[in-house]
Amino acid sequence: MLVIENLVKIFEGEKARRSRQDGGDGESRKTKEIRAVDDVSFEVKEREMFTLLGPSGCGKTTTLRSIAGLERPDSGEIRVSDRVLFSMGKGRKVHMPTNQRQLGMVFQSYAIWPHMKVFDNVAFPLQVVPRKSRASKEVIRERVMAILETMELTEMATRQATKLSGGQQQRLALARAMVTEPELILLDEPLSNLDAKLRESLRFELKRFQRELGITSVYVTHDQVEALALSSRIAVMKDGKIMQVGRPRDIYEKPANQFVAEFIGTSNFISGTASNREGEFLLVDTDAGQLRVTVETSLPVGAPIILAVRPEGISMSAEAPTGTEPNEWSGEVITRSFLGDSVDHIVRVGEHELRVRAPSAVSIAPGTAVALRVDPANLSVIPG
Ligand SMILES: Nc1ncnc2c1ncn2[C@@H]1O[C@H](COP(=O)(O)OP(=O)(O)OP(=O)(O)O)[C@@H](O)[C@H]1O
Ligand SMILES: [Mg+2]
Repeated sequence: MLVIENLVKIFEGEKARRSRQDGGDGESRKTKEIRAVDDVSFEVKEREMFTLLGPSGCGKTTTLRSIAGLERPDSGEIRVSDRVLFSMGKGRKVHMPTNQRQLGMVFQSYAIWPHMKVFDNVAFPLQVVPRKSRASKEVIRERVMAILETMELTEMATRQATKLSGGQQQRLALARAMVTEPELILLDEPLSNLDAKLRESLRFELKRFQRELGITSVYVTHDQVEALALSSRIAVMKDGKIMQVGRPRDIYEKPANQFVAEFIGTSNFISGTASNREGEFLLVDTDAGQLRVTVETSLPVGAPIILAVRPEGISMSAEAPTGTEPNEWSGEVITRSFLGDSVDHIVRVGEHELRVRAPSAVSIAPGTAVALRVDPANLSVIPG
């Protein structure tokens, strides 16, 4: 439904004036241009959560802003269903203004309207449509309250938007982008201001919400665990180019090149199968024992999954494991490396070698037996 073809966006470099004293001609010269988006093509299917993933500066935001109409690319084409949003160098010249593109957007710097209450922020996009097609007051109220509930903002409906925390403002921006149920929604790191726990739960909410409403979305993140957990498909970007497009499992199991392998590989991955639920937890059988995970999605028993945990998401101590706590492993330190503000340890747990990041005061010698613990909230589920 969204088609991007051979998109190129070049930013001119800084202007550097060569002075006459230095033998220059006094004219201003442009330094090296930046090919922020360098011949990018991809297609997003209806109802997909398509993610652009890559390190800082690789061109994710520029690609998204081009789709939104906030950047004017140098060449290429952007189409949504049968509408041409942008075309240059393909025999036609189209640059549709942002407000005609009918897209929902949440950007890195979430812009909420500070002079409005929370309710009015969300209701506004529904209120500005022409009278003929506008919903009734009651319907608008219903839709706004439903979405505020999903975003856990019901109690704050009458509060001034500026009197929210960063995370609450981010959820407000999400609610506002989704309330009109646009056919395509663009999300640029919409969860970046949330703490780990809230991010985890909102991730699943977002996915459920997107599925229920049948919204197609393009999601931008530099966080590979988030991308793996959330996406239908991922495009891994580097220096303005797409390195690989594939389903999360393909990207993880069959990286197309070393860059993709290394970029995806900075977390610990443990494969297993879904077992029963225990209250708020899902139990997962792995070859490193049974683990508890906090997820709201229900997975059939036996479904293959991959659990991801970041090096800093595991805590470590040189005591013997209690043997009674959940999510506890015993292991042995193999190597360690000092990183200044932290110390990375490679710890062998059965067949696995896990990377564990400890505060700089904690440095445990190779050969030492250790106990590792993982908070269920730090385990992300990547469905098979
Ligand atoms: N307005 C601009 N003028 C000049 N260069 C720009 C401009 N906007 C972005 N760039 C450059 O284009 C490249 C891509 O930037 P972009 O913002 O798309 O990266 P990103 O992948 O979103 O990174 P991040 O994860 O840090 O948000 C970078 O090298 C950036 O410095
Ligand atoms: Mg960006």
